[in-house]
Amino acid sequence: MTAERFADEVRGPEDLARYPPEYKKAIGKIVVSHAVNELKGALTFDEPAIRMAPTPKFKWLVSRNTMEEFNHHILFARLAEAMGLEWKDKKPLTIFDYPMVDWAEFGAIKAVVDIAELIELDDLISSTYLPLRKVAKDTYPDEKFHVGLGRDIVRTLLVEDATNRARLQAAFNELVPRTLDFFGSSSSENNETFVRWGLKKRSNEAMRQEYFREVREYLLSTGFAMPPVPEKYRKEIAL
Ligand SMILES: [Fe+2]
Ligand SMILES: [Fe+2]
Repeated sequence: MTAERFADEVRGPEDLARYPPEYKKAIGKIVVSHAVNELKGALTFDEPAIRMAPTPKFKWLVSRNTMEEFNHHILFARLAEAMGLEWKDKKPLTIFDYPMVDWAEFGAIKAVVDIAELIELDDLISSTYLPLRKVAKDTYPDEKFHVGLGRDIVRTLLVEDATNRARLQAAFNELVPRTLDFFGSSSSENNETFVRWGLKKRSNEAMRQEYFREVREYLLSTGFAMPPVPEKYRKEIAL
């Protein structure tokens, strides 16, 4: 990073005209991507899981989780709309093309995929664009709850039937490598722009490494194996 990092605190869309268009464009990319992906995730994984949930307690908790994911979409979509940006025609990430088939898989998704969102929010919480900072702060505790819910589902499945372990391990093996892609390319120009404008703190690579560390800690501490690192990330994820 050569240029000095932008450190203003920008209060809202009305102040964006005072800064180069690149700043608004960078914020736009982040908020539109979140608006689209929170909606896609809620529709693909969370809403169908309410039906799959096996007990009243889990139906209630998954309903709350689903309501929150739809709400995250609304909060990011409002940020986009306040900036005059359209999000409806943007495509979600391919990680959401994942055909979730059962309850164990939903538990695995919440336990390890939502950690990626927590890592992303960790950076956005100190964003120079204050409306984005506020949404990141407001959604952070929800994502914590989602990860906890996933772990609760995994724990319950293991207690109920030891053969569930193999099913869960298979789900982690599928999900973890896919989620590494969530952070984007390690030589991303977008990411450099986000860091230069103080919208994010870390590189995609650093966030991916942190993700890997956290997932490994969780999986190993619960007796699962860490899925192998895909070839393309072998250099940057040192074990
Ligand atoms: Fe979310
Ligand atoms: Fe979530």
